[in-house]
Amino acid sequence: MPFPDVRPRRLRRTPAIRRLVEETKLAPSELILPMFVKEGLTEPRPIASMPGVVQHTRDSLRKAVVEAAQAGIGGVMLFGVPATESKDETGSAGIDPGGILNAALRDVAAEVGDATVVMSDLCLDEFTSHGHCGVLAADGTVDNDATLAIYAEMAVAQAAAGAAVVGPSGMMDGQVGVARKALDAAGYQDVAILAYAAKYASAFYGPFREAVESSLVGDRRTYQQDPPNLREALREVALDVDEGADIVMVKPALPYLDVISAVHASFDVPVAAYQISGEFAMVEAAAANGWIDRDRAMLETLTSIRRAGAQIILTYWAMDAAAALRARY
Ligand code: PBG
Repeated sequence: MPFPDVRPRRLRRTPAIRRLVEETKLAPSELILPMFVKEGLTEPRPIASMPGVVQHTRDSLRKAVVEAAQAGIGGVMLFGVPATESKDETGSAGIDPGGILNAALRDVAAEVGDATVVMSDLCLDEFTSHGHCGVLAADGTVDNDATLAIYAEMAVAQAAAGAAVVGPSGMMDGQVGVARKALDAAGYQDVAILAYAAKYASAFYGPFREAVESSLVGDRRTYQQDPPNLREALREVALDVDEGADIVMVKPALPYLDVISAVHASFDVPVAAYQISGEFAMVEAAAANGWIDRDRAMLETLTSIRRAGAQIILTYWAMDAAAALRARY
């Protein structure tokens, strides 16, 4: 009697067989590249904690978005970094049509049109002098409803500047609903909402704070979710879907694969995940030390996020991953 009767190793024997039976495939069109554009910059500036990622000038951003479109990347998510003197208590540069993010959206939309999906982060933290995602009440807490009024204006400003998708990311209660109503009232019924629905108060945002030169003192634990909670994420997602979210996102990705999986199982809207700055930085740092193989770790993490149920992934590796995927398939 030959033993064993069942030999799973047969389907792992060659690269061609392994490729044939792969259950999860990634495509460049499912990747979104987050990008930073800084006011007043004359040369792109590297971000030390995020190797290969830069703060763009308006000009270098335009060119990089064209390259992303040509590479078949699904979309770009733009973050504005205002000059320090453009920040104020209420983040008014986020609403100003001439503010860095709105100006950059205009540049980019004029350049690429609908060749890739142009998205904008809809949040105040880059624009406020205190670095919080909303405006502060007299007692120093973040005032939910006063913030909503600003988000509504900001959504319209971003749509007017050419965003095809806006991404409310401040974790204020009701943020998706006010953005949807404001967009509709202003005639932007076709601008979609990618809701940062389940966004956790994560230690992995560290490098992003450098990327946007965050002024934050303290933390975001009164509005972002507490890491131990899964059921709470489903409630957040349900609210956002009810309020009109077209796509829902879980963020960060790798420490929350169970949340991605649960959201995917429970809702019928597209699910996105954000592989955030700290997830990127830890792989890059380990690879720079020769401790892990960067390209394999890159595709392994992205594949795990896809396998968990995210069909759209925001990743700083979007361009590199697209090149690796083109070589593979
Ligand atoms: C809020 C926002 C943040 C990130 C994306 N949108 C920062 C935060 O919530 O503290 C983080 C992204 C990353 O770490 O890559 N505007």
